[in-house]
Amino acid sequence: MKVLVIGSGGREHALVWKLKQSPSVTQVFCAPGNAGTSLECTNVEIQATDIPRLIKFAQKEKIDLTVVGPEVPLVLGIADEFQKAGLRVFGPSKVAAELEGSKKFAKEMMRKANVPTADFRVFTNSAEAMSYIEEREAGDRFVIKADGLAAGKGVTVCSNNEEAREAIKRMLLQREFGEAGLRIVVEDRLEGEEASLLAFVDGNTIVPLEAAQDHKAAFDGDLGPNTGGMGAYSPTPIITDEIVDTVVEKILIPIVHEMNKEGRPFRGCLYAGLMLTSQGPKVLEFNVRLGDPETQAVLMRLKSDLALTMFAVADGKLDQIEPLDWDPRPSLCVVMASGGYPGDYEKGHPIRGLEEAALVPETKVFHAGTRQIGDQIVNDGGRVLGVTAIGDTISEAKLRAYQAVKCIRWDGAWCRKDISDKANRY
Ligand code: AMP
Ligand code: GLY
Repeated sequence: MKVLVIGSGGREHALVWKLKQSPSVTQVFCAPGNAGTSLECTNVEIQATDIPRLIKFAQKEKIDLTVVGPEVPLVLGIADEFQKAGLRVFGPSKVAAELEGSKKFAKEMMRKANVPTADFRVFTNSAEAMSYIEEREAGDRFVIKADGLAAGKGVTVCSNNEEAREAIKRMLLQREFGEAGLRIVVEDRLEGEEASLLAFVDGNTIVPLEAAQDHKAAFDGDLGPNTGGMGAYSPTPIITDEIVDTVVEKILIPIVHEMNKEGRPFRGCLYAGLMLTSQGPKVLEFNVRLGDPETQAVLMRLKSDLALTMFAVADGKLDQIEPLDWDPRPSLCVVMASGGYPGDYEKGHPIRGLEEAALVPETKVFHAGTRQIGDQIVNDGGRVLGVTAIGDTISEAKLRAYQAVKCIRWDGAWCRKDISDKANRY
């Protein structure tokens, strides 16, 4: 079969790499892709949100399966348009993608389905939001979230009411996130460890992937500003088999059922961002796609045929495939970022040492923000590379990944040095 992957990040490079390994796959395209995907498949110069051109391309090339990486095209309705054009697509419909596209919608669905999550209220009026904060007992701590998509930046975790008032002002009055922040969710702050559990869902059948733990803070020790994710490892000792069962039973089954009841069947990858609280796992957010960089770490461990699995999801036949087969060895992904990220950063610095890094055993360098200019590969985004390794132990995987990291350099390059150290805390 011919496969098209949509997107240009590390997640998409990992998808291309894994899909290519399927014996049933004859050709892979990536739109628009990056310098890394162009080494493994054919890049197509069409942006991920240019739905009409993507459809034309898929029709012309007779693509059998299109896999949508990022959330923005999904929220715009790319899956519906592909289906209308008679094209098979992995990813939820527009109305199902609202689970990520609107935090208000997601919270209301969770409330209806009785899924454990933080208490919340929704506001469009800043005075009302402020008085809600004051009314709650002193000592309450809040999280203020823009309702719509804000590229992962729309969430402020507050340590006191002053910070909460500031965040409300920035979103509702100063319109920091534009339209996306004109409605906000004010929710209680939860305490605990965070982990991600992703699952393939075909509308009815739910197949969880191996759990992973992301590292969202910029700096070692989970300090500094939030990022898209500076690294991940899988499996994580905090998600035991028992917790997976609880998440499936108390979170995934009820939400998938509720979505069906609402006439919004979910097909694709459902990503539950979890806080493991003293009262059990609670949902921080749902994403309607694979995570980045969780995908890089998790796919490194997948032994099953990803293309056939995604094909089955798209066709609603997930119940007909064999259980997923996983490499029991742990993996981790270290993200190398541009100097200044998650703030402003310079692009266009030549990246050196990729060939040397490729020689490190059981290690794969996935590209994210990279671009080929002439015979040079340069940095072209905030998160640039996802150096991913597998090993008999998490320490061995870590050693390999950082050995490869050491080979790679460009002006301003940096990474966290403590990816997966959390695993040793438990
Ligand atoms: P979200 O995009 O909703 O996952 O939020 C981004 C990050 O904010 C999460 O990964 C958490 O670290 C943090 N966060 C979100 N909601 C809460 C909450 N209710 N309590 C504590 N931290 C939260
Ligand atoms: N790693 C976080 C995300 O993909 O949203």
